[in-house]
Amino acid sequence: MKFDTPATTNPIDRLKVVGKATSRIDGPLKITGAATYAYEHHEAAPNQAYGHIIGSAIAKGRIERIDLKDALRAPGVLGIVTHENSGPIGSKKTTVRTRVLAGPEVTHYHQAVALVVAESFEEARAAAALVRISYARADGRFDLAEAKDGAPLATPYRGPPETRIGDFEGAFAAAPVQLDESYSTPDQTHAMMEPHATIAVWDGDRLTCWTSLQLIANGVEDMALTLGISKENIRMVSSFIGGGFGGKAFILSDNVLAALGARLVGRPVKVAMQRALMFNNTTHRSATIQRIRIGAGSDGRITALGHEGWCYNVPDGLPESAPQPTKSMYAGANRLTRSRMALLDLPESGQLRAPCETPGMMALECAMDEMAEKVGLDPVEFRILNDAKSSPEHPGRPFSRRQLVECLRTGAERFGWDRRDPRPGARREGRWLVGMGVAGAIRGSIVFPAGARVRLDRHGIVTVETDMTDLGTGTYTIVAQTAAEMMGTSLNKVVVRLGDSRFPVGPGAAGQAGAASTTAAVYAACVKLRETVAQRLGFNNDEVDFAGGRVRLGNKSIALGKAAADGDIVAEDRMEYGDLAKRYDMQTFGANFTEIGVDCLTGEIRVRRMLMVCAAGRIINPKAARSQIIGGMTMGVGAALMEHMVTDTRFGYFVNHDLAGYEVPVHADIPHQEVIFLEEVDPMATPLKMKGVGELGITGTAPSIANAVYNAIGVRVRDYPITLDKYLDRLPALT
Ligand code: MOS
Repeated sequence: MKFDTPATTNPIDRLKVVGKATSRIDGPLKITGAATYAYEHHEAAPNQAYGHIIGSAIAKGRIERIDLKDALRAPGVLGIVTHENSGPIGSKKTTVRTRVLAGPEVTHYHQAVALVVAESFEEARAAAALVRISYARADGRFDLAEAKDGAPLATPYRGPPETRIGDFEGAFAAAPVQLDESYSTPDQTHAMMEPHATIAVWDGDRLTCWTSLQLIANGVEDMALTLGISKENIRMVSSFIGGGFGGKAFILSDNVLAALGARLVGRPVKVAMQRALMFNNTTHRSATIQRIRIGAGSDGRITALGHEGWCYNVPDGLPESAPQPTKSMYAGANRLTRSRMALLDLPESGQLRAPCETPGMMALECAMDEMAEKVGLDPVEFRILNDAKSSPEHPGRPFSRRQLVECLRTGAERFGWDRRDPRPGARREGRWLVGMGVAGAIRGSIVFPAGARVRLDRHGIVTVETDMTDLGTGTYTIVAQTAAEMMGTSLNKVVVRLGDSRFPVGPGAAGQAGAASTTAAVYAACVKLRETVAQRLGFNNDEVDFAGGRVRLGNKSIALGKAAADGDIVAEDRMEYGDLAKRYDMQTFGANFTEIGVDCLTGEIRVRRMLMVCAAGRIINPKAARSQIIGGMTMGVGAALMEHMVTDTRFGYFVNHDLAGYEVPVHADIPHQEVIFLEEVDPMATPLKMKGVGELGITGTAPSIANAVYNAIGVRVRDYPITLDKYLDRLPALT
């Protein structure tokens, strides 16, 4: 099926199952421990051996010698994979640009050098300590601030590296009110609960991997390219995932080394990456340095808007392109965005929790707050005044739906914004200096072509299959809701099977695109199934009604399962897209409001209240969508106040490589959170008129906190995270 004209009325619009707050259908499996994660497929492959990864002790250079003698004699050891026995390993054409196994060259710290395989985990770990590796260390480049000048332009995954509209420099120079500031965001790690993990099994030349992976079809393809084997001989299964946040988009060393280890020892091998390796062995979000220039008239209208971003990566890697959201957020006739990427010898940077928008909004929304103060307008009013009526960079291209102003107004009203004192440091409650901050939020709404298969049996059970995965976000449930609505049956008559490369290729879970793309594929497959069912039952399809588990026309009503009396009916289809995404700027929008307190004696920041108002198309499952948003808001607290991988710029590695040193918010850090979804249907997006909300919640939270901190203490910290050392000496004097 092709979606190339705006959606019209269809069976989804009945909203009997879709749009209702629904508990997860996989919830009971999870809370009883019955959901099998990658490392837990014990029965699937008996006699599993354990792999332990050894990471490189240098960031750049060569392995001179690997001495395995003692390790191979250690108890329980079955074999050790190194570059000397691995056979050729490809990387150039795969989605991961760095080799997942070093040797003889080493290109980043903790790059895998060996996998020790033994009868037990403990034996593998003990033997790993006996592997002696000598390196020749080379000098590398590890400092973004130093490499920034001279960094070349880099093309992000959306749009060109530089965009210009009008005369930015001229308009900025002529503007009566100007802002020219630099901001920086740190390296961040995904810090998901479940580590990267894989069980690999060979059956002749056929490989099966039970793994923790967001994009199954990509994983199969990358494994084929990496090992030089045929795609048809690879099966990947990822039924449940304990968080990914972009870090499990592509196969990494656990996956490839488990496969190599299993081939070496002739047994199934399981590998869970040690937590201490997760920070330097895998991907992360690149730090950014950003310069924002805004010029405005004395009436507060923006006339010039410039956003430049610097990041770093490995050769052929994608940039963390911070200027991305500025292309769609605010009006202004003269514009410039520019994205540059330095090449450093640090680990590869990949996608993490709303790539581009998150660091970009941390700077842009802070700059907007500063500019509001300069022009003497309330920060909410300043944003509303400069709302973009159509795509600022594409004259004549409308937004499919844009309710940023409505989000801001609703939020201001619900949060009690009128109680905010615009004077910094003016509100004191006992030992707390209290501040309120606002920020806009945006995340691109993309859809990927995707397929699904549906099967109806004689009991009226509908089974849906796609290789789309559920990161913990609620995919199982919205897929079931979609199929139930389309087939006019109830949720408990739908079975959903995800994350297996034997199923039709879905979109994968990434880019906030999974929900909209997958449900559109299920829609397409169900349209086909309805046609066949109607035919089998001898109905004229155009007028037939599917409801209450029955198929009706006039006064004739037959149970759905009757259509499959002589055998299951299977329908499969793929949703493809026309050019609507080129004719409309499709985004999800939101507004974040945050109240914080700063202890006037210790400087400690406590978040007190958070509200986010979202406009993101039709909400398929308000319960799961709310969970997505409060999860995003929680990550925003981390981004604003805590998360920071600290780089050792001499030796080239992230120093705090454990969850004690890399701080993320815990329950005690998170106060009352409120989420409001505005009424919205977006017929340009998909037949369900929906968009994703998986990442929207992350983008506006951190800057709303930064702006609240400024309102509380009058100190503007432009270097995230906002930690005590950056403002302690500037706390207001006690009176
Ligand atoms: Mo998401 S960070 O685009 O997997």
